[in-house]
Amino acid sequence: MDLINRPRRLRNGSVLRSMVRETRISADTLIYPIFVQEGSDIKEKISSMPGQYRWSIDRVDELLERVVESGVKSILLFGIPEHKDEIGSSAWAENGIVQQAVRHIKEAFPQLYVITDVCMCEYTSHGHCGILCGNDVDNDKTLEVLAKTALSHVRAGADMVAPSDMMDGRVRRIRQVLDENGFVNTPIMSYSVKYASAFYGPFRDAADSAPAFGDRKSYQMDPHNSREAILEAQLDVQEGADILMVKPGMAYLDVLKELKERFNQPVALYSVSGEYAMIKAAAQSGYVDEAALICESAVCMYRAGADMLITYFAMEIAKYIKEGRIG
Ligand code: PBG
Repeated sequence: MDLINRPRRLRNGSVLRSMVRETRISADTLIYPIFVQEGSDIKEKISSMPGQYRWSIDRVDELLERVVESGVKSILLFGIPEHKDEIGSSAWAENGIVQQAVRHIKEAFPQLYVITDVCMCEYTSHGHCGILCGNDVDNDKTLEVLAKTALSHVRAGADMVAPSDMMDGRVRRIRQVLDENGFVNTPIMSYSVKYASAFYGPFRDAADSAPAFGDRKSYQMDPHNSREAILEAQLDVQEGADILMVKPGMAYLDVLKELKERFNQPVALYSVSGEYAMIKAAAQSGYVDEAALICESAVCMYRAGADMLITYFAMEIAKYIKEGRIG
């Protein structure tokens, strides 16, 4: 057969395949989300996320030692407070759960890079991501509490803040307040393009943050839209976001790719709780090979353009990189 081009030539043997590989993955770019809960002696299973727990600060070292050992270098903290109220005041309390956790972690594990999620939904009695006005979230009032919360995290020692509320103008307001207080070098990773998604279901169990009424569609994005994603990212860039994020991951890789092509900021992807739960559930039923699925889906997210990947599988992925299964 007179064939000039034979793509199969470059697929011959693992050495050659890894030589011509287009996507390289490093544990340096993995971010592991952790749930910290107020109280003591807590290591509570999250039933919809097998293998993930809520930790009190006095027990979390057990997990953090494993994180460090795995080669994962950054974590994303979510807090579960004891006390919730209308305005979510525990979110910016000096001795709030995230603030205490950050102080503890930066002292006990100074090598870990600590990012904090900045949002109100875990702290409000109604479970919405801001201050209510009637049945709607008041955008501009919420900016003030978000900025206060971000500042309190950074004062406690957070290396980076990640606002996930989807209010308009929050990056600008947080940047202003951080700068006024001398934190000009603390980066903001903005959940720029965050869709109103059913993939967050297990997270809301984990963080006890489901809205008591209604949904989040008046602030999170409609999954039908992708040009709007460009607009959201553009605004965040203008407001001073250092890193742009797309969330969820797997079903939104077209949006990720588009952002990667259009912007020069690093782009992070958040592979969320529902994605984790689906892989876990299918694997537990024996329908799929868990390790192979974790590897393949991670590779695909990087191939689509993720510079960083936030995932509950971070430690597993780091292990598979070390073993040479991916990378
Ligand atoms: C807080 C927040 C959520 C997630 C990250 N930050 C939940 C939500 O918006 O309802 C979801 C993360 C996940 O599902 O893994 N607003």
